[in-house]
Amino acid sequence: MVKKIFLGIVIVLVVMQFFGGRKNEAVTHEVSAFINETKPNQEIQAILTSQCFDCHSNKTTYPWYAKIAPVSFWINHHVEEGKEHLNFSAWDTYDAKKKKHKLHEVEEEVEEGKMPLNSYENMHGELSKSERELLVAWAKEAMSKY
Ligand code: HEC
Repeated sequence: MVKKIFLGIVIVLVVMQFFGGRKNEAVTHEVSAFINETKPNQEIQAILTSQCFDCHSNKTTYPWYAKIAPVSFWINHHVEEGKEHLNFSAWDTYDAKKKKHKLHEVEEEVEEGKMPLNSYENMHGELSKSERELLVAWAKEAMSKY
């Protein structure tokens, strides 16, 4: 009985590997409209690239374990949902009101420690206090232009 259950689980896991290979890897990773308008300095750009663009742009840098189902389903879901809320690659399609609102959200989410998602920080390392402060100050400043 236990053997059958175990075998069943193994089969399910193996079959899973054939699904969910969706990849968020656009060839042109266009965040230039966003960068040009909101002018994050090099340091802030580096933080955004390593901590935010994986889920909020058209290009995700996937870790090796992202290939393995069911982890892949879970990661794809985060990327999809993240992009739905905020996609820095689609910045030029947002109107001024939306841009301002999204930057305000960035300020809040980062200040309150809600972004990046905890699960992401567990795997990629946490933002330091000073990195959070940099992001918040930049978002405030950028927001005031709209
Ligand atoms: C692992 C994926 C992931 C990463 C990395 C990530 N986010 Fe998110 N983000 C999400 C998801 C999913 C949502 C929507 C659900 C929620 O709010 O929890 C979201 C929502 C948001 C929102 C709310 C947008 C709105 O108007 O509803 C903001 C702002 C945001 N993220 C900013 C950031 C910033 C800034 C970073 C980097 C410091 C970041 N996120 C990193 C997945 C991610």
